[in-house]
Amino acid sequence: EGKSFNAMETFPIFFKVSNISVYVLPIEEKLSKRRNIRKKGKKKSKLQKKQKSTLWNFWSKLTLFTLLVFIVVVIIWTLLWIFVLKRANEDALYFAGLFRLVNKEFVPEYREKDSREFISMTQNIQHVINAVYRASVFSRLYKQSTISDLSNNNNGGLLVHFWMVFIATKAKSQFVCEDCLSAILKNSIQTSLANRSSVGCLLGLPVDMDSVIVNAALRSDYISTTGTASNCVTNIYAEEPGQMIPLNLHASSERVTCHFKLIGMLGHLIRLTIISVEVEADGCITDSLTIYDSLMPIRSKTLYQICESFNSSSVSFVSTDNAMFLTFKSIQIKGLKSFHGHFEAISQKPCGGTILTKGSIGFEGNITSPYSPSFYPPKCSCSWAFKTPHSDLGIALKFYNYVLKQKGLKGCNHGWWKINEKMYCGYYIDHPTVFYAGSSDVNIIFHCSSKLSDPPLTAEYGSYNISKPCPTGDFTCSTGLCISQSQHCNGLDDCFDESDELTCSIAVKDCSASSPLKQSYFTCDGIKDCEDGSDELNCTNVVPCNVITYKCRNGLCIAKRNAKCDGILDCADGSDESSCGCGIKPGVQSRIIGGSDVEDGEWPWQVSLHFSGSAYCGASVISKGWLVSAAHCFRDDRLSDPRLWTAHLGMRVQGNAIFISEIKRIIVHEYYNTQNFDYDIALLQLRSLWPEAMNSVIQPICVPSSQQVLRGGEKCWVTGWGQRQETDYKDPTTLQKAEIEIINQTLCHSTYEFITPRMLCAGLLSGKRDACKGDSGGPLSCQMKGSGRWFLNGIVSWGYGCGRPNFPGVYTKVSKFSSWIEKHVPTFS
Ligand code: ARG
Repeated sequence: EGKSFNAMETFPIFFKVSNISVYVLPIEEKLSKRRNIRKKGKKKSKLQKKQKSTLWNFWSKLTLFTLLVFIVVVIIWTLLWIFVLKRANEDALYFAGLFRLVNKEFVPEYREKDSREFISMTQNIQHVINAVYRASVFSRLYKQSTISDLSNNNNGGLLVHFWMVFIATKAKSQFVCEDCLSAILKNSIQTSLANRSSVGCLLGLPVDMDSVIVNAALRSDYISTTGTASNCVTNIYAEEPGQMIPLNLHASSERVTCHFKLIGMLGHLIRLTIISVEVEADGCITDSLTIYDSLMPIRSKTLYQICESFNSSSVSFVSTDNAMFLTFKSIQIKGLKSFHGHFEAISQKPCGGTILTKGSIGFEGNITSPYSPSFYPPKCSCSWAFKTPHSDLGIALKFYNYVLKQKGLKGCNHGWWKINEKMYCGYYIDHPTVFYAGSSDVNIIFHCSSKLSDPPLTAEYGSYNISKPCPTGDFTCSTGLCISQSQHCNGLDDCFDESDELTCSIAVKDCSASSPLKQSYFTCDGIKDCEDGSDELNCTNVVPCNVITYKCRNGLCIAKRNAKCDGILDCADGSDESSCGCGIKPGVQSRIIGGSDVEDGEWPWQVSLHFSGSAYCGASVISKGWLVSAAHCFRDDRLSDPRLWTAHLGMRVQGNAIFISEIKRIIVHEYYNTQNFDYDIALLQLRSLWPEAMNSVIQPICVPSSQQVLRGGEKCWVTGWGQRQETDYKDPTTLQKAEIEIINQTLCHSTYEFITPRMLCAGLLSGKRDACKGDSGGPLSCQMKGSGRWFLNGIVSWGYGCGRPNFPGVYTKVSKFSSWIEKHVPTFS
């Protein structure tokens, strides 16, 4: 009661408390338990939390990782696209170009590529070319230009030779055409109409617009002329006129690409003489010697290309300026490759002149093409003024292997001539002709119109009697030559175009003792020329045996050069026509118009030529590895590329050939005339030979000799996969054959105006059976009565429509080409 509380007093309470504290413990425990429980609870949620967070971490990492991988893949892909795939899809396109800078002096330092003068001048020009093309539609594709040469030239100023490189995808590369690129350059030249000159301003440079050339070029040419190290480029200077500088190249079993830059003094031209060339002959696909009229391999400046070996006689070429470029290429690993020649600088010579002829009739002198006997360069021109002393005397020109024909609408490919205001085209042929200019005053202008160099021309000139070109009693050939009356209808082609034998159909049968037919040519040749057979009677063949004769098995000798296997039974025992290995159908025991399906192995020489995978022309096997076809099958750049052709042999149904070969080379006749199909013949060399086991279905046909005569009315067969109707454009799949008749040459002439001695007509005058489109190049096969062997007497060439009445088919007359074939086919004899 009113007692104050002190510590002692509170003590028992303490005890009490401590007593009670018994209870405290459990509370403490409880508390700690509870705390523990709470702690446990807390622990549990942390674990949950922990579990939750690791899960989240995993997913985020995965996403992050995927994202990263994705980004890396995208980057790699983009880089791959930029550096590999895009590159692989892109092509570098190379162009070689040329233009002339006017008012710029050439300095000798320009010959050194590392001279200050060369570098500063070329940088300036490069800058201009870059600016022109970077501002053009091709700006994104244009990569760079390189100036390869700065040269002096006979027209004054500086000639700039340059390379350009464009990079484009395959799809875009077709738009980068050479004409477009040259148009861009030309359009950038500002000319003024006022001074009527082709010289204008190309971003500050005075350029002659007419001199601009841009040509697509080969990557290999770009690399081998502009690259470094292993380059084989030689600059050779001719410093004095008349100095012969030798050019020799020898290499064995290695790939060679060598270039020669031949440079002459100002005002001079280069004459290059080639003495021998040794390369693998494959139509210039791998091996070639190319001569350019510039200092770079610019295609349109090609003067000539040699595709096969030769060493018999030298040939020479002349440039149009003071420079020439030579490229010798031999990619074939096998064998020796070489070329030998020399060059010189020659002075420019005017061509033509004024000629006063003598009063007497006859040839008295020669005129020649420029720089004869060299090939003459393109774009040359000559003019001659002839005068005879009397108004009744005209000027005659006799060419050795050339003919002048009035110019039609088309251009002339091998020289155009203006003779007293009339225009003519010149064509190379294989025989002489005479041109009569019916006036005593004759002005002649000759322009070299070929793209390449052409073989030298010579014409004899003289006076003739305008009212009577040939002497009295002589026969005038359509070639213009004069022959004696006794040569007319003697069975020999004295006119070189058979015009002396065309109108002799009645005389042929005249075998009276006085007839010219009784001459040795027709007697004892195995063909009955006379109706009574008197020309083949009493043939004792008492010719002495020697090198120019053929010894028959019975011991007698015959005087024929081509007696062996020419389809003419020269020996009475037929031994000259046995074992010839051609013209036999071993497989047969027994789109053509109006034809029928053939049997298997019936025409073992028939070939189908496929161009870019589809049937295009026919051909015939003439020896192991060689075919004959028509020149017109290969008439343009693409068609003349042997790599695009395959030959299908031993085939009856298209697609079932027993042997297919690639074509190694195509030899088109050098006189093939695109305008009238004259000399429509080509030889093809196969890349691979068919195995011996196929000889029962692949056999050569015999090539007729030049003496073999086919008479009108004789029956032959034409075969091919060409159209069956003029207007049925679907070609048959099975080889068709049709028997047709040889039409006499006189009738053939009266039907078609342009028949040449290298053509023959065959068909039915009723129409009905004929060759047609697609049969070209295929054989006209004729079986010789004596030997029973088959001869290739014709090659399907042309015709007016197909199977039209009175318009027979026209075929190349193969007998005219026996020596041409012999010249090219080594295994042929
Ligand atoms: N030139 C044709 C060709 O390319 C052959 C024409 C033959 N014509 C004729 N009527 N025979 O296939």
